[in-house]
Formats: sequence, C-alpha cells, structure tokens
Amino acid sequence: MIDNQTISQIKEQIDIVDVVGDFINLKKSGSSYKALSPFSSEKTPSFFVSPTKQIFKCFSTGKGGDAIEFLMLIDGLSYVEALKYLAKKYGIEIVENTNDNYSSSDHSKKESLHIILSKSVEYFKKSLQSDEGKKIAYSYLKERGFDDEVIKKFDVGFAIDKWDDNYNYLKNFGFKKDLIIDTGLVIEKNNKLYDRFRNRIIFPIHNISGKVIAFGARTLIDTSQPKYINSPETILYKKSHVLYGIFQSKNEIRKENKCYVVEGYTDVISLHQKGIYNVVASSGTSLTSDQIKLIKRYTNNITILFDGDDAGIKASLRGIDLILESDTNVRVILFPNGEDPDSYSKKVNSSLFKDYLIDNEIDFVTFKIDLLKKISKNDPLKKVDTIKEIINSISKIPDTLKRSVYVKESSLKLEIDENILISEVNKTLLKNNYSRKNLLKSEKAKNNKKLISIENVISLQEKECIRILVNYGTSDKNFTIDRLSFIKYFLNEIEDVKFNNTNHLSIIESFRESLVSKKPLDINFFLNHSDKDLKNEVIDLLSSKYELSENWIKKYKITTVEEKEILKKASLNSILRLKFRLIQKMIDNNIQQLNNDNLSEKEEKEIISDHQKLKKIEVEIAGELGNVTTK
Ligand code: GTP
Ligand code: MN
Repeated sequence: MIDNQTISQIKEQIDIVDVVGDFINLKKSGSSYKALSPFSSEKTPSFFVSPTKQIFKCFSTGKGGDAIEFLMLIDGLSYVEALKYLAKKYGIEIVENTNDNYSSSDHSKKESLHIILSKSVEYFKKSLQSDEGKKIAYSYLKERGFDDEVIKKFDVGFAIDKWDDNYNYLKNFGFKKDLIIDTGLVIEKNNKLYDRFRNRIIFPIHNISGKVIAFGARTLIDTSQPKYINSPETILYKKSHVLYGIFQSKNEIRKENKCYVVEGYTDVISLHQKGIYNVVASSGTSLTSDQIKLIKRYTNNITILFDGDDAGIKASLRGIDLILESDTNVRVILFPNGEDPDSYSKKVNSSLFKDYLIDNEIDFVTFKIDLLKKISKNDPLKKVDTIKEIINSISKIPDTLKRSVYVKESSLKLEIDENILISEVNKTLLKNNYSRKNLLKSEKAKNNKKLISIENVISLQEKECIRILVNYGTSDKNFTIDRLSFIKYFLNEIEDVKFNNTNHLSIIESFRESLVSKKPLDINFFLNHSDKDLKNEVIDLLSSKYELSENWIKKYKITTVEEKEILKKASLNSILRLKFRLIQKMIDNNIQQLNNDNLSEKEEKEIISDHQKLKKIEVEIAGELGNVTTK
C-alpha cells in the first residue's frame, strides 16, 4: 500500500488538464477546457475540464470527478494503480511495503497479471542481452538496422530457445501457476507447462497508460511456423481495443494532429527511429471501430500507410469505409512496389523519408477513385461497380459539406453527371439511415436522454388543450368573443386527435353537444357536475396558472378586436404541440417493433416505410408549429 504522505504529495502535484490531456485532445474554452467525451461517441464536445476546480465533467454520460477518478474511468485502473501512474508521471517515488509477496490476495487479479507481465518484460529484455540473445536476437535486430534507443523505447526482448525457462523464472517469484497461465505466457498441455514464446523476438504491447498487456513474437528462423505468434486475449488484452505503439506515440499524435497507421510492429519502430513519432500499428488487420475511437481521442486525421502491393490494398478498402463513418479525415500513402514503411525507411535518410510522406499523401476517396479506375480500365461493367463503390464510400461520410465536395470531385473524375451522383448518394444515405440497425441505435440514444416519458408529456399537453377550451369556451368570462364559433373552431382542429383522459373526453363531448344545441356552456355546468372527478378536474383547470394565455395576451396587447385571432393562435399552438407529441409516440412505438428479432424481411420493410411516413408527418406538424409561433 502507498503511505498517506506519498498520496498527499502526489495529489499536490496533479494538474488535471495535464493528466486528462495525456488521453484526449483538450481545447481551451473560456476558463476551462473542452473535448469530445471519451466515454461516448458524440459529435459536439460536452466534456469539460476545469483547471481551477481540478475536476472534469462529462455531460453526455454524467460522469465527473478529479484526476484520479478520470484515470480509473478511462483506463480501468484501480485507485492504487491510478496513484502509481501519477507518481510515475510526476517523478514521485513510491515506497511500498509489499514484502514481494505477489501471491497475496491483496492484489486484484488484474493487478497480479500486470505484475507478472512486467516481470516478464524484464525477463525478455535480460534474455536479449544474454549471450544467447546477443548472438541470435540482438544481432538480428542490429542487422535489420534497429538502434539501441528504439529497442529500449519499445522494450524489445527475446524469448530464448527453451521449453519452460519463462515459466520457471516466474514461478521463482512465487506467482501462482493459474495466474501465470492467465497472462497467456504459459500454456498447459497434457499436464505439462511450456512457454508460449520460444526462440522469438518479443515486442511487448502496451496499453494507453504504458502497461504491458500482451506480446507479439516474431520468429527468427524460416520454418513452416507462423512469422508472428501473439498473446491470446486475456482479461487485460482485447485485441480489437488495442493499437501497437499508442503509448509511445500518443503525445506526438496529438501534437502533430495526425496519426499514421501502419501494418506491423517493425513499421512502428522504424518510423520512430526515423523521427516520426505519431504512428501506430493495426497489427495486420483493418482498424476496428474501437481502435478508431482510441485514435480519435487525440486527432481527427488518420493517414494509412500502404505496402506497395495491389492485393493488400483492395482488401483494406472496405475497412477504411469504417473510418469515413467516424467522421475522420482519412488519407493514404502508398509505398513503392514491394516496399513497406519499414523497408523503405531503411533505404532513404530521415529527411527524404519525411518528404516522401508529405509528397505522397492523398485523400482517401480520391485515392480510391484512382485505384478503381486503374483496375476497371475501359470495362463499362467494372466502371459501374466502381461508381457504386465510390457512392458507398461517400455516403458513409457524416459531414454534409464534405460529402458534397467529394461528389463534385468524383463526378469530374468518373465523368458522370453530378446530379446523378447526388441522387444516388442520397438514395444510399436514406437506405443506410433507415436501416433497422441505425433506427434502433438512434432510438436507444434518444431514450437514454429522455428524462420525462413521452406519456407524461402527452398528458400534460392534452391537459393544456382542454384548459384553453374550458377557460374560453364557457360563458362567464369577460372576453367578448363569439363562444360558439370558438368552440366550433377548436373542435374542428382536434377532430383527428385522440384524447386519452376520460374527463377530457367528456368535457369535449359536452362542448360538442353545446355546439349542436347552439347554446354556449355555462361554467357552472361543470362546477355542479355530478361526476366529482370531472368537477375537480375542471376546478383544477380553471385555477391552474394562465401562463400561456397571459403570455399571449401580453405579447399581442390584447384588444377586443384581436381577441378571437389570439385565441385561435393560442389554441392552435397547444393543439399542434399535442399532435407533435402524439406522432412522436407513434414513431417510438413503430420503431420498438424492430426490436423483434423474428421479423420477416417484408415486415421489417413495412415498419421502415411506416417510419418514413410518420417522420414526414412529424416534419409537417413541426412546420405548422413554426408558422404559428413565429407569425
Ligand atoms: P517484418 O517482416 O519483420 O518486417 O514484420 P512485419 O511487422 O512487417 O510483418 P508483416 O508486414 O508481414 O505483417 C504485418 C503485421 O501482421 C505484423 O506486424 C503482425 O502483427 C501481423 N502478422 C504477420 N504475420 C503474422 C502471423 O503469421 N500471425 C499473426 N497472428 N500475425 C501476423
Ligand atoms: Mn515488414
């Protein structure tokens, strides 16, 4: 445990802006800083850091707290781990009284695994400097041109060619067998334990706060064995969440406001050696949405570095559409045929290499058009495919302005009419936006925000309508209006509105009858009503604040001449508001049906088509409402 004096020493040193800034891109805004929330995938920043109060607040998730709590949330650290992280950051020495008893149950399982992994990193690094390591592995790294500085920076190591050396090393510390197995370093087979990594170069994989959570291991001999073996997924390591090099590169990614993405471990290391520090590796696959989110904490500009072979590129194109979807600026750099960033970096000097990156960077959509054009040559059918592909990519871009720029450019490059492209993109957009998945997703997000249920809003709005009807439809008021024509107008407007409350329904019914009998209702009709519940409701309506009507009256400095007009507007306003809420409820209910996983394709289509119709009505009502309130 950490003693109290050290804890307060750490707390005195903390600057929350600095701590949070290591993880996300903060922008100054008045006296505080803001950023896109790292806890949700929002488009407008609602994450604030206050340097004076030393706290953060995320309005989209409601999370908030001090720097320690931030670390616990963003990186899943325990309180002690967060303190240790801060101590390291601020160069404060921690005196721990653990007696090196690592098997003690004080440590959570995750912490135990972290300790075992960090001991292993030491072990692999020592092995690299052993006689065997020097002869076989270190010499190999030197031959490939890696210098000591990057070898150290990336904690590169070596697993010697023995069956259980790593295991015995760890066992001697007193770590439990099961925990060692859980790190993925040791495999149990036929009651025997053996090291997963043998006779391989070891590339430790760090998480964002610099802890080793897994390893990539490259073979040193050309055999039928796979070139790389990686740690299996563990409670610490989820492959799709991690990017190789993020810890070593994150500050530079933020500073340069750009992240280079390469394929392999050696590419990352080579680029660092060449003085390019804003680079991560996807480890051979295309980026996952979690990895993109991780990068977006630091920058909105992603540049993919491609090896110079066509097959690999074509396979990666689809993956890049995912990045477009995340509203990121995607660019690509293509290396000469047969070269990858690592090999090419070894051929030219640092400044030429940097120039190459600058000179050859092109925007992804442009790149894709050029590439597909090259592939399809003059084959008209292939050209159609190309156009479809491009339309697909463009419609993934959330930003309207960006989309239209791309449409223009594509129409020039592909030699097709811009309007045709626009309409095709719109069609695809509509299809994508109104897909079952997307509808459910946006619906869920909306529901999370809703504090008051739609039912409550509807019943309040319903009451407001009836309040106006009762107050102005009965004859004991001083207003000199034509009550019958007001009632007529009002009832006409609510003809297609379904009221829920039984009292409201009977009030409406009474007014209908008064219209038929051409006799305005006296308020005493309700106040002496035999239905007690109805009577109380009307008293309630008469005594509730005349907020709306007072507003309207003030606004229009009411005179007898304008009175009718004002009343019409006030009525229409409240009726439209009710209609608006009712249609929203219908939309909600309709979408809920999509939750049913057993829907046939036809049923799904019907729901989506209903959705579009309802949305249209919603827009119409909103438009009318806008007219009423602004006129
Ligand atoms: P060098 O050939 O030493 O330069 O390594 P590299 O990192 O450039 O490898 P390569 O370009 O062949 O592959 C890119 C990335 O794909 C690697 O860094 C690994 O993450 C991954 N990869 C390559 N080969 C394998 C393999 O056999 N198994 C697994 N699991 N991953 C691999
Ligand atoms: Mn390579």
